[in-house]
Amino acid sequence: MTENNENQPQHSDAESPKRGIRSFVLRQGHMTAAQQRAIDAMWPQFGVDYQTQTLDLNTLFNRPNPKVLEIGFGMGTATLEIAKRLPEKDFLAIDVHGPGVGNLLKLIEEEKVNNIRVMRHDAVEVVDNMLADNVLDGIHIFFPDPWHKKRHNKRRLIQVPFVAKLLPKLKPGGYIHLATDWEEYAVQMLEVLNSFENLKNTAEEYAPTPAYRPETKFEARGKRLGHGVWDLVFVHHE
Ligand SMILES: C[S@@+](CC[C@H](N)C(=O)[O-])C[C@H]1O[C@@H](n2cnc3c(N)ncnc32)[C@H](O)[C@@H]1O
Repeated sequence: MTENNENQPQHSDAESPKRGIRSFVLRQGHMTAAQQRAIDAMWPQFGVDYQTQTLDLNTLFNRPNPKVLEIGFGMGTATLEIAKRLPEKDFLAIDVHGPGVGNLLKLIEEEKVNNIRVMRHDAVEVVDNMLADNVLDGIHIFFPDPWHKKRHNKRRLIQVPFVAKLLPKLKPGGYIHLATDWEEYAVQMLEVLNSFENLKNTAEEYAPTPAYRPETKFEARGKRLGHGVWDLVFVHHE
């Protein structure tokens, strides 16, 4: 894999000058037959195609309940569990990773959950083009890629310009919940969120993990490696 080779020039799509710096590098990843079958069977009802027009979330979920955006759900196991724990909320879950999309659709099918819709696209473009202002009650970004090498830090999702785009999508009183297992990224997250006057920290610094968030797959991996875990929960106000 050239993307991990320090000696190779980086020409992955994460840094293509035309497309700007991206927070992910598309990996092929193995799609199992069951994941592909779930995509074929479930996409028409639970998948959302990328478009450049605004999406009406109440129409999408067929009800006016609170809406939560999740960016980077990975294999979707935590997403599924949260949707079951909070059945009165609706979850728009976005990732670029095909096998994860298949896996989440498979879980939705198995558990007969009706309050998740799935997108396979760069969430930055979805936020730019598909979400109206003042429509979200919550935003979940759990264990975004830490991009821990100094020269990769610029690919991190949680930076001032992206959060500045996200915040208008939140209703007043809506929350943003981040988590990471990479301490230096946790410090960056705290600095970024603290820099917004219309965001209020619900804790002194890092928040206790809210009861609705189970351990994620990436978090379990981090713990096995001896990493800590930091949650941040900030509320949006006018
Ligand atoms: C480190 S994984 C964490 C996955 C999951 N939240 C967990 O905790 O197990 C980060 C995920 O974010 C996704 N991702 C990164 N940048 C993204 C973007 N701009 N839009 C959508 N998904 C993105 C990656 O594909 C990956 O699945």
